[in-house]
Amino acid sequence: MTGPAWDLLIRDARLATLVPGAATGVPARGALAVRDGLIAWIGPDAALPAGATAALELDAEGRLLTPGLIDCHTHLVHAGHRAAEFEQRVEGASYEEIALRGGGIRATVAATRAADQAALLRASRPRLEALLRDGVTTVEVKSGYGLDRDTELKQLRVARRLGELLPVTVRTSFLGAHAVPAEFEGRADAYLDFVLAEVLPAVAAAGLADAVDAYCEPIAFSPAQVERLFQAAARLSLPVKLHAEQRSDQGGAALAARHRALSADHLEHLSPSGVAALAASPTVAVLLPGAYLHLREMRPPPVAALRAAGVPMAVATDCNPGTSPLASLTTAMNLACTLFGLTPAEALAGATRVAARALGLPDRGQLMVGLRADLALWNADHPAELSARLGPSSLATRFVAGRPDHAPTR
Ligand code: NIG
Ligand code: FE
Repeated sequence: MTGPAWDLLIRDARLATLVPGAATGVPARGALAVRDGLIAWIGPDAALPAGATAALELDAEGRLLTPGLIDCHTHLVHAGHRAAEFEQRVEGASYEEIALRGGGIRATVAATRAADQAALLRASRPRLEALLRDGVTTVEVKSGYGLDRDTELKQLRVARRLGELLPVTVRTSFLGAHAVPAEFEGRADAYLDFVLAEVLPAVAAAGLADAVDAYCEPIAFSPAQVERLFQAAARLSLPVKLHAEQRSDQGGAALAARHRALSADHLEHLSPSGVAALAASPTVAVLLPGAYLHLREMRPPPVAALRAAGVPMAVATDCNPGTSPLASLTTAMNLACTLFGLTPAEALAGATRVAARALGLPDRGQLMVGLRADLALWNADHPAELSARLGPSSLATRFVAGRPDHAPTR
């Protein structure tokens, strides 16, 4: 009798399915099969259909198998570094003071404009490789260090190219409204006019953005300016997301919620009405504890209120040179627990199922028949181990659409 013919069969794994309502604690052992890049079968080893064959079979020996991790907020394509600003901040200067002196985002803009496409790719690739070594199979990458047409396009092309060169899904966000560049000093509205007339249309025409993002803060863009950008994104049928309530309460999360944004990100200064607005919307809260740590913030996002209101919480690295030079999503998960009070189970959901939602990707983030077989196998047996450690990564191997990166290591 012939059984199903699979491409991959992983036996005797502890399956952390991340399906809502699944039991917590050490997951039951079981098998998972893949065909044509999708999860084809999940169940106890003893229930495997008779006669099943697989081109590749792997004995997980009781190790933890999770959905591949999803980093839903990064600025990993950039040139240069900002170590001197870190020194200044350690000595007491604030992020805003440094930005107002022409440092901050503008410093990285200068370096990114100066790098040609090959140099930008060379500088960015190791950061993405570090994320992959830690179990990431899908990553979001923003522009926003160009702030002119050609450099924004260059950043997004490099992001797309990385997704061709490495086994990972790259989703891009256009963040032209990240800061006002020096040549538009004091003329934020004129800069936004330029973005709407010349940059966003070029980005959209080239198919280089999957979403549109902005930074809503007094040192960047006002809610009224973000509103204009979001209306332009809607005309292009591009989903939106927003850096909101990171340093002050601008009502950004409520604005994002009103536009049914994919996500509102940071949220340290989120008000109770902002929590309520998110709860009444499909918008996900994205927590970025790396930036909170690196900026030595004292006010964490209102996690208990978000949890009580049922707002889904994602966790991401925010990998960027100024506020979160972090290229490990499991470290971000640890920080979300230690600094923000997420449970390890919430942190893992935040880096898988909820992160998938923050990117508008319902085809991944859980172990479920029919979803993409993006998987991470860990030298661990309890899901909380992923959040408990502060490096090195316990990843054994990743599978992208069912294809293993390399033989699993112990
Ligand atoms: O997500 N908040 C704005 N954007 C980045 C920081 C960018 C930078 O300082 O280069 C963030 O923290
Ligand atoms: Fe960011």
